[in-house]
Amino acid sequence: MYITILARSFSKHEQKRLGYGAFLACLFIALSFSTVFKPYLGPLPILNLRLSIMGAGHGMYAVKETMPSHEQENTTAKSEIVVDNAKHDEIQVTKPAKVETKTWNNATSCIGFPELVAEVVKPLCDTTGPRTNFCDVKGDVRVQPSSSSVMLVTSAGDNRSSWKIRPYARKEDKEAMSSVKEWLVRTASSLENNAIPRCTRNHTAPAVLFSAKGYSGNHFHDFNDILIPLYLTSRKFDRNVQFLVTDNQPWWITKFRKIIDNLSRYEIIDIDHEKTEVHCFPSLTLGLRRHGELTIDPARSAYTMKDFRTFLRSSYSLKRRSVVQVASAKPRLLIVARQQTRRFKNADSIARAARQLGFEVIVAEPSMDVQAVAALVNSCDVVVGVHGAGLTNILFLPDEAVLVQVVPVGNVEWISRQYFGEPSKAMDIGYLEYKVSLKESSLIEQYPLDHIVFKDPMAFHKGNWGKFKSVYLDKQDLKLDIKRFRPTLVRALELLREHRDRSVW
Ligand SMILES: *[C@@H]1O[C@H](CO)[C@@H](O)[C@H](O)[C@H]1NC(C)=O
Ligand SMILES: *[C@@H]1O[C@H](CO)[C@@H](O)[C@H](O)[C@H]1NC(C)=O
Ligand SMILES: *[C@@H]1O[C@H](CO)[C@@H](O)[C@H](O)[C@H]1NC(C)=O
Ligand SMILES: *[C@@H]1O[C@H](CO)[C@@H](O)[C@H](O)[C@H]1NC(C)=O
Ligand SMILES: *[C@@H]1O[C@H](CO)[C@@H](O)[C@H](O)[C@H]1NC(C)=O
Repeated sequence: MYITILARSFSKHEQKRLGYGAFLACLFIALSFSTVFKPYLGPLPILNLRLSIMGAGHGMYAVKETMPSHEQENTTAKSEIVVDNAKHDEIQVTKPAKVETKTWNNATSCIGFPELVAEVVKPLCDTTGPRTNFCDVKGDVRVQPSSSSVMLVTSAGDNRSSWKIRPYARKEDKEAMSSVKEWLVRTASSLENNAIPRCTRNHTAPAVLFSAKGYSGNHFHDFNDILIPLYLTSRKFDRNVQFLVTDNQPWWITKFRKIIDNLSRYEIIDIDHEKTEVHCFPSLTLGLRRHGELTIDPARSAYTMKDFRTFLRSSYSLKRRSVVQVASAKPRLLIVARQQTRRFKNADSIARAARQLGFEVIVAEPSMDVQAVAALVNSCDVVVGVHGAGLTNILFLPDEAVLVQVVPVGNVEWISRQYFGEPSKAMDIGYLEYKVSLKESSLIEQYPLDHIVFKDPMAFHKGNWGKFKSVYLDKQDLKLDIKRFRPTLVRALELLREHRDRSVW
């Protein structure tokens, strides 16, 4: 509408005012574009949300993006503005088709007012991504914990832009997000000086503000929803960054102290408890980026999963980069024990079978002592475990180690592959899957063989995560058929040998 009105206001005898008009046009186009393509002016991402076997619920989502992400500056906005020079009374706006360059941002299109246009156009927050909302705020940034708000003081005189953001990288999951504090991010005009809180603490380093709630405490989610996203968001600062934690849980910070300290040289600030302070920064990122499950997409980041694993190794002083660096006389196999659910009922027999094949076997359950767990896992060549958060520790394995994921009854394959199978490939870890037969599942002691629980798991839980979890994940223990399982162990040994032999050359 703006464009039409503006176009009408141009008539042939007003051509001498074109310079001014064109500037206004740019401004209006920029503004209307920011409405249409809010907030990044990028192409509307065509998202293919595959809501897996169930509907809402913890951990059952996969999101596939079919567009290059807005996080990659190189391939963003592809809208074209065509100003018809022959008849100055017409301005056409062509919606994104396939235009190669960032035409909208081309200073020359906006006849001589590039900075001003850029300032008006640039949104602080990106809420278009499938997994996470985040804001990159640069300039005079003030964090006021008493009002849970982040302000950018600008001279533009426009303080109407605001966003409400929960800084946890799992926006598709209502249950996780419900525990995360909401922050207000807005611009504030320096013209209204009295409305702007005065800085009580001035920082020179940029800040990153994130939540320690959501599903924290679950080892998988600790890494997937917070630590990998924190790395993705802040590694580039080379430790010259101030972390602000909201929804703080001191035990969580303690548990991952080494990672946090290796990402930031400053003591983390529990921002919710700074009610009388106003912290000021030259820039601030609120919320964290996340690319997928235990995944860093190299196309969207300067870093890779390999880099993250290298970073973990240096943070925990882990010795082995690859299985080629032999840790013990025999290849070492770790059986990840679980005490509560999805237990191995015959861990002893599994261990015996592995020993007979030439492995040194360790049976262990992950503890809160991440340093000890990391060192143990790094000394191993093969990890055997039932699908579950404990498998997240494969992050500490040396390259070319092997994960054997034991998949319980109940259509658990899909999440098993999504959470650990696919990610292990990007970590240079060999992946083997062992799907148990009905006879190996304790569920046959609880339900008759012709029960819907076995015949049609999907029809049984109907997408209800709680129902799925309570039966297939919480009430199922496994007694592996050693004869059936042995070939998988043999294959793991072969994979190891192949890696080691190849490295000789
Ligand atoms: C931009 O994209 C081109 C090719 O698509 C690539 O070669 C170049 O490295 C990219 N630049 C940045 C800064 O990502
Ligand atoms: C800006 O647009 C002009 C004309 O449309 C074009 O010649 C020029 O190469 C563009 N500049 C950039 C940096 O894209
Ligand atoms: C800017 O914000 C202040 C306080 O929130 C408000 O009183 C004022 O009307 C706003 N000004 C504009 C131009 O939106
Ligand atoms: C922070 O910096 C501002 C602007 O330079 C200054 O006015 C203010 O007094 C400083 N606050 C503190 C606590 O140093
Ligand atoms: C992480 O910490 C270790 C020692 O604690 C250090 O050797 C290494 O350089 C650090 N890595 C980074 C990326 O800061």
